[in-house]
Amino acid sequence: NNVFTNDIKEVIINEEEIKQRIEELGKEITNIYNDDDDIVMLCILRGAILFMADLAREIDLPVVFDFMDVSSYGASTESSGVVRIIKDMEENIEGRHLLIVEDIIDTGRTLKHVIDMLQTRNPKSIKVVTLLDKPERRVKKEIDADFNGFEIPDEFVVGYGLDFAEKYRNLSFIGVLKEKLYI
Ligand code: PRP
Ligand code: MN
Ligand code: MG
Repeated sequence: NNVFTNDIKEVIINEEEIKQRIEELGKEITNIYNDDDDIVMLCILRGAILFMADLAREIDLPVVFDFMDVSSYGASTESSGVVRIIKDMEENIEGRHLLIVEDIIDTGRTLKHVIDMLQTRNPKSIKVVTLLDKPERRVKKEIDADFNGFEIPDEFVVGYGLDFAEKYRNLSFIGVLKEKLYI
């Protein structure tokens, strides 16, 4: 109904499906920790911002919020392979449970880089929750999420935090961008 959503070829996960799956993930995550665990939820900016906000409200445990700004794509649909830490997290995670929150695992390079770096700070545990997973794209084979919202095929998706050249993050669904917009 407007120019912005006309850029989308197909909605692959709608708002209601996202909401329902996040409720399930919240319950799963709540169940694997103990009530007195010290948990730091780490949002990987910028893509995971909406997922973090919605997921946190479905986790029935006290959690601390932190943020790390990591970028590998720039203004392209292909990961550059060079992962840059633009802003590190603030919390000291030694001896604490770390829950990394990602919007998507594609090649796995971003997550590999973040996990390798944070492992050296001796957290009590590291777990990863991702909304989307593209398993067929994985170059870092050893990288996987502990909790995964949806497995999706190898198509360039935007919305609900995911961007193309910083646009489309504020769509409330996950959609496939029309090819003519990026080819
Ligand atoms: C995207 C996405 C993940 C990462 C996944 O972030 O949000 O963080 O790429 O790709 P990978 O598994 O191939 O590393 P991006 O670098 O585009 O930054 P953004 O979150 O600010 O959009
Ligand atoms: Mn990201
Ligand atoms: Mg991006």
